[in-house]
Order: sequence, then C-alpha cells, then structure tokens
Amino acid sequence: MTTTRTTMADSTTEAPDGVAGGRLVVSARVRIIGWMVGVLALALVALVFLTWEVLSARADAAADKELTHEGNKFRAFAASPAAAQFTRPEDLLDRWLQSNLPDDSEALFTIVDGREFHRSQGTPPARLDTDPAFVKQLAGATEPSYGWVDSTAGKVRYGVIPVRIGAQPVRAQLVVLEFRDVIAKPSIDAAKALVVIAAITLVLAAGACWLVTGRVLAPIRQLRATAERIGETDLSRRIEVVGNDDVAQLAGTFNTMLDRLEEAFEAQREFVDNAGHELRTPITVIRGHLELMGDDPAERAETKALVLDELVRMNRMVDDLLVLAKSERPDFLQLDEVDFTELVVEVVAKARPLGDRRWRVHTTADAKYVADGQRLTQALMQLVSNAVRHTKAGDRIEVGAHLDADGSALLWVADSGPGVAPDDRDRIFDRFARGNDQRRTDGAGLGLAIVRSIMRAHGGDVRLAAGPGARFELTLPPVEVPHR
Ligand SMILES: Nc1ncnc2c1ncn2[C@@H]1O[C@H](COP(=O)(O)OP(=O)(O)OP(=O)(O)O)[C@@H](O)[C@H]1O
Ligand SMILES: [Mg+2]
Repeated sequence: MTTTRTTMADSTTEAPDGVAGGRLVVSARVRIIGWMVGVLALALVALVFLTWEVLSARADAAADKELTHEGNKFRAFAASPAAAQFTRPEDLLDRWLQSNLPDDSEALFTIVDGREFHRSQGTPPARLDTDPAFVKQLAGATEPSYGWVDSTAGKVRYGVIPVRIGAQPVRAQLVVLEFRDVIAKPSIDAAKALVVIAAITLVLAAGACWLVTGRVLAPIRQLRATAERIGETDLSRRIEVVGNDDVAQLAGTFNTMLDRLEEAFEAQREFVDNAGHELRTPITVIRGHLELMGDDPAERAETKALVLDELVRMNRMVDDLLVLAKSERPDFLQLDEVDFTELVVEVVAKARPLGDRRWRVHTTADAKYVADGQRLTQALMQLVSNAVRHTKAGDRIEVGAHLDADGSALLWVADSGPGVAPDDRDRIFDRFARGNDQRRTDGAGLGLAIVRSIMRAHGGDVRLAAGPGARFELTLPPVEVPHR
C-alpha cells in the first residue's frame, strides 16, 4: 500500500470564509467566549452590587453613629457645671461652637429665634445653614429629632436639639449635620475601583479565552482541512499524528478508519475485477462459436450444446456471486434446530449420483445444533462436489458430524484423493482461487469462498486438516440448544 503523508502543518491554509466547516468552527469559538464572558460579567456585576450595598449600609450606620455621638457630647456639656453660668441659650451654644471643632464630614450651626445664628468653624462640604427653607423647618423643633436631607455634597444626616434654659420657652436649636457621602468617600472610591477592575478583568478574560479557544480549535480545523483533501483526491493519504493529546488520538482513529475503508474498497475492486474477468471468458467463448457457426445441422447442434453448457456455467457463477454478496447481509441465515444425523444422511443421498464412490457417513447420535440447515447443506454440497471432482471411481468419501460436550460442533468432508498441494492450502479459500495443479477446471473457484462465508456467518470457520487425502472441517461455536 503506498501511503502519501499529509502533514497537519502543510494544511494551515484555512478554508476560505463561506465554507460551512470554517464558519462552524468560528461560531463555536464565539459561542464559547459569549458564554464565558456572560457568566463572568454576571458574577462581577453581582459582586460589585453586593459590595456597594454593604459599603452603603456601613456609611449610613457611620453617619448615625457620629450624629448620636455629637448629640451625647452636647447633652453632657449642657448638664455640666460649666454650662450653669449661661442664662441665655445663644451664649451656651456659642460657647459650644467655640469649644467643639467638627470633623471634615461634619458641620454644626445654631438657630436662635427662628433664624440661623452662628455656625461652627471651618468650611463645611455644603452650606445648609443658608438654606432658609431648611432653617425654617428646623426652627420649630421643640423636641430632638433627626432625618435625611439632600445637599450639593450629597445626602446629609441631620439632627436638631432644642435648647432651653430653666423654664423659658424654647428659642434656640443646635443643628448637627453629618455629610454621609463625605464619610462614605473611601467606600465610594473603593467601589469605583472595583468597577474598573471588573471591567478590565472582563476584557482580559475575553481576550485570553479568544486566544485559548483559537489554540484548541486550530488543530481540529487543520484536521478537517486535511480530511477534506484526502476525500477529494484518494484514500491513500493519511494525517500525520503529532503528540499524544486528544487531537492526536482523533487523527490516529481517523487514520485507522481510512485503513479499513481503503482495504474494503480494495477488496471490492478486486472482487469486481475478478468477477468481470471470469464472466468475460464464457461470453467470449459463446460469441466466438456463434460468429463462426455455419449452416451444417450437425455443427449447429454441437455449437448449441456448447453454448448452453457455457450459459449453465455462467448461471452457476452468477448464483454463487449472489450467495457471496448476500452473506454480508444480516438476514443471510434462518436459524433453527438442526439434526446433524439427518443433515449428513441427506447430503450423502444428494451426492451419490455425482459419482461412483465409497460413501461413508459418520455421526454421533442425537447431535442437535441451532443453525441454518439449508446453508450448512449448501456448504457440505460444495465440499462433496469438490471431493468427487478430485477422486476417482471407487475412492472413499466420508461425511461426518460431531457435537462436543461444550456445545461446539464439527462437520467434515474427507476423501482419499490426492489432497491439496501445500502451496495452495491457504489460497484456495479466497474468491476465484483454484489449485495450480488442476489440469482442466470448469469451476470458478468460488466454492470454498462460499463455504467460508456461510461458516463465518455462523460464527465458525472452515479449515483444511492435515492429509492424507483432503479433509475439510467446518467448525461451529458453542450454542445453547433450546429444549422443546
Ligand atoms: N477435495 C479436494 N481435493 C483436492 N483439492 C481440492 C479439494 N477441494 C478443493 N480443492 C482445491 O481447492 C480449489 C478451490 O476449490 P473451490 O471449491 O473454491 O473452487 P472450484 O471447485 O475450483 O470451483 P467452484 O467450486 O467454484 O466450481 C480447487 O480448485 C482445488 O484445487
Ligand atoms: Mg468447488
């Protein structure tokens, strides 16, 4: 077998766009990346969202805590002996504003008689003391209260504490402002960084996935391109197996399949060649005789007999070829219980008219086996007709059957003729193979091939036992005989 190696390397020229296979691989790649990026994006969005929720809740809690702390500090001051000297609430509040420095995220201011009075030192993130509506809303407070208000610096948690000296009516309030978004700034920055990192991760992952899928799918694409080329030209090309990975195994399996295909095609071609050649011979003979046939009645009768003889031979050959072709089909055998004694006796009875021989029958009693009785008879008749052909009058021909204890069976046809030449022993089972020593053959060499097909269909085989004479044995594997 001549084998042209097609390397995967020289098939790197990819199929042009528009080739169905090429599109298929690209879309598989896009699909893989789509799924991967989708799942990753979902996970990252969930991560960012959860982180943001947690940080946000923490910022709210921190603003509340600061507000409570400021309120408690002021209450402690108001209850201290140092505060007792003040008779007017505005003086008390001024002192508090002077002595209490707010954080960057805090601001204090006071309301006296309904108007913004003073504010704490430093520059607050946003001015709410200058918002008349806000001041007016808080000025009426006679009880401590708190709430949320929006400002130019984001959400603000505010608390208002009314201040009263002795039994005087409430005239003044201390307002504490906690700028929640300023408190949360580190968290907001962290969340923003997280979003940026997530986006970069997504882009990098998509890029990495593109590269990896490209690498994984490239050998498969090359394999396909090579396979396509093999199909277009001939079956003798093979894919070079490089490495020991899955793709290499795929290439190996593919090569093995090509081996089998090539073998099958080769056998089929040989068979058709042989059949054509064998059938041409009788056709040529018939044609030649008919063309040369004269008007002489005696000659015409002779030609007619010869032509009919050739046609019978052709007919038999065609029948044999049909049996061989049919033996590949699953319905070739019709299984039933076969009584070997009956089978052998029947074969000998049919064979007797073929020639004057000393016929022998050899069977064990009650030898029953599940098989196709008609096909086995056909096989034995082929062997018996061969035996008759290779023996002379008075020679011995034995047909026998034997069933082993393990259920396997043996059928045989033995003759006392010259036997098969050692060089021919293996050859004669092939289709159209005839013995070399044959002086004049009128057979096509299909008989033993048919016997072998029938036996192999049964799971058995045919073999030629050692001489003297010719002894052909048919083996059958163990089969359970159904009890009836
Ligand atoms: N009993 C035998 N004794 C000696 N040689 C045999 C015997 N049986 C078969 N052979 C040899 O095996 C060859 C193949 O046999 P096979 O039955 O396949 O073909 P055939 O008898 O020549 O033709 P066909 O069976 O198609 O009419 C024969 O040509 C012969 O040389
Ligand atoms: Mg034969």
